[in-house]
Amino acid sequence: MKEKLETILNKTINEIKNSESIEELESIRINVLGRKGELTLILRSLGQMPAEERSALGKRSNEIKTEIESAIEEKKDKLSSSKIDHILKSDWIDVTLNRADFAKSFKPGHIHPIYTMQYEIEDIFSSMGFQILDGPEVETEYYNFEALNIPGHHPARDMQDTFWTEDYNLLRTHTSAIQVRGMEKNKPPFRVIGPGRVFRNEAVDAGHSNTFYQIEGMMVDRDISVAHLIFFMKSLLKEIFKREVKIRLRPGYFPFVEPGFELDINCLICEGRGCSVCKQSGWVELLPCGLVHPNVLRYGNIDPEEWNGFAFGLGLDRLVMMKYTINDIRHFHDGDIRFLDQF
Ligand code: DAH
Repeated sequence: MKEKLETILNKTINEIKNSESIEELESIRINVLGRKGELTLILRSLGQMPAEERSALGKRSNEIKTEIESAIEEKKDKLSSSKIDHILKSDWIDVTLNRADFAKSFKPGHIHPIYTMQYEIEDIFSSMGFQILDGPEVETEYYNFEALNIPGHHPARDMQDTFWTEDYNLLRTHTSAIQVRGMEKNKPPFRVIGPGRVFRNEAVDAGHSNTFYQIEGMMVDRDISVAHLIFFMKSLLKEIFKREVKIRLRPGYFPFVEPGFELDINCLICEGRGCSVCKQSGWVELLPCGLVHPNVLRYGNIDPEEWNGFAFGLGLDRLVMMKYTINDIRHFHDGDIRFLDQF
């Protein structure tokens, strides 16, 4: 029995020395000191031994137990500090690294061409006394249609294929919804623009997207005429294209303006001679607009006998496409760095 005890001691100490993980140590401990461990069984059997052997064996067994326990603890400490050493070696950050060198491996990003255009237009309108307003992308039917003189069941709703939410709200189909919010917030006279992303259930192709960008504008004052509208639109286009741009107005139907117009610009690609961009017509449709319908003013709590105004809806994607001769609207949302890098 005495030899057996010494063998257990030597074997276990050896195993502890060679163990490589805390899990391994634990299973060594269970094999020897666990409920059914080798040493535990011996300690338990001491009761049946003759008294003269019992005390010497008992004493030695307890010594061995203590020795093994402290060897395990010691090894455990070693293993966990070497684990930390390992993490320190593999997961380190060189805080002294030269940032300029490091940064060279990354390309700085930049503002998307649509937003560059949006900010430019915001600046132009701010300089002409317009406030910049925001509105939600998920709108109520009231702001998107009703208050813009498009009641339920009116066929004009079909002009804008709409994404509805389950609770009968919708993804705004145009930024005109911001007009109504603008009227609620301001007493006339006022000038506001409302840029934003809009959504329609469109089949997607080179010229159409289900997600695009507009800037809505509205000016309410006394005795506003189409001449004011033309003045502001020409000033805007001149700033954007950095030259005089010829425009023309054609009648256009929008329930929220009367009269309503389509504003075309003389094609900048061919100077009006006719090309593929303007479909040989010399003109490009750019900007629907008109004088605000009296019903819309009434929805905004404005007396149409005293005040009137103009409004317009600028398609930002179209404008950027004109400016840089981009032939496919889908590029804007593809996230393709090769495309975006050009701006
Ligand atoms: N909201 C219209 C659309 O997205 C564009 C528009 C037309 C806005 C005429 C206006 C306007 O403010 O007067 O189709």
